[in-house]
Amino acid sequence: MPYAQVAGWGMYVPSRVVTNDHLAQMGLDTSDEWITARTGIKERRLAAQGEATSDLAVKAAQRALDVANARPSEIDLIIVATCTPDHLMPATAALVQDRLSCNNAGAVDVNAGCSGFMYAIGLGAAQIESGRARRVLVIGADVLSSYVDWQDRSTCVLFGDGAGALLLQVSEEPGILFTTLGSDGSGAGLLVIPAGGSRLPSNGNTVRNGEHYLKMNGQQVFRWATQIIERASIKTIRASGLTPDRIDLFIPHQANLRIIEAASKRLGLNEEKLFVNLSRYGNTTNASIPIALCEAIAMGRVRPDDHILLTSFGSGLSWAATVIRWGVPLPVRLSPWRRFRRRTGRQWTSVRSSLRRQRQKARFWWERIFPRNSV
Ligand code: UT7
Repeated sequence: MPYAQVAGWGMYVPSRVVTNDHLAQMGLDTSDEWITARTGIKERRLAAQGEATSDLAVKAAQRALDVANARPSEIDLIIVATCTPDHLMPATAALVQDRLSCNNAGAVDVNAGCSGFMYAIGLGAAQIESGRARRVLVIGADVLSSYVDWQDRSTCVLFGDGAGALLLQVSEEPGILFTTLGSDGSGAGLLVIPAGGSRLPSNGNTVRNGEHYLKMNGQQVFRWATQIIERASIKTIRASGLTPDRIDLFIPHQANLRIIEAASKRLGLNEEKLFVNLSRYGNTTNASIPIALCEAIAMGRVRPDDHILLTSFGSGLSWAATVIRWGVPLPVRLSPWRRFRRRTGRQWTSVRSSLRRQRQKARFWWERIFPRNSV
């Protein structure tokens, strides 16, 4: 049976840094002390005006392709995990496919709250293991800052924007050992954006009532999260044929330091095995785990043959966990010539993508001016 292994990784965060103090200075009734003590967050990155989820996703994905030294034409499937797509339709993955010129790839979005990225890993790995794909690009990207109420101190301080990507590739050695996917829709109301879907289409009233903003029952999500991380992790570790002491690195969803510490304690995983970076990014929703993984790799915390446990939870309610046996060598340094070719290739790709869009527009107008006779 073919296995799925991580062959490339990349992350991107917007350049605008907003600290806890900035939020307090902007008039929000909060303080750096409160946010730090209750969440562990010190600052977050926010997308610029007009910067959308696909913009972040493309940058992270390009880096993952670079690390794997893979050509866009070699990608069979793109899965974008997001709860803040550029549009309700088309899928953000389709926009990413066009911008990267992945001309042989299918493209689909997955929405499973903050667990979407882990769902994408599970689904992508399954495509490879079944022999239907050789390379799958899985991306977690969100611009939740567009959906939080900047007057609601109980939610807006928690989130940041970002993107992370992994390139999964067929391998003879096991890489993604097992993925658990779980959900409990009875908790749907605990973390919800009420308006903007078919249940409650946006209109003047919904906007006036702020129903297009994220609403969360923080305390209930908190209590549930500490338990579900442990349950999902244990199940996944066992299904991977391991015991908790065989885990070398634990990367949980970066939502709240208190949740993370409580869950690690329950799992018996000490601080040296834990990776946390939420103080700098806040909760970046679907990007939280891939960004943390990229930083762990950059800091030398991931070595070949390590067992890495990734566990997430979020809106749905949903949860997911996976254990990866790390098998890739560290990235190769590219020669200046290869770097030049890659840069020019990328520029050409974006020109081609824009030419394709212009051609679609021209075809539309041509067919309106000179309609074909219908049969
Ligand atoms: O991927 C998404 C998953 N979501 C999560 O992981 C969220 C899980 N929940 C949490 O992380 C925590 O519940 C929060 C950080 C959201 C809240 O922390 P808490 O310790 O549960 O606080 P609380 O809701 O019990 O509120 C305590 C007090 C309240 O004031 P009173 O009623 O005691 O006077 C809040 O109004 O803290 C107040 N408060 C704040 N104060 C200053 C709430 N937010 C803030 C704030 N600054 N930003």
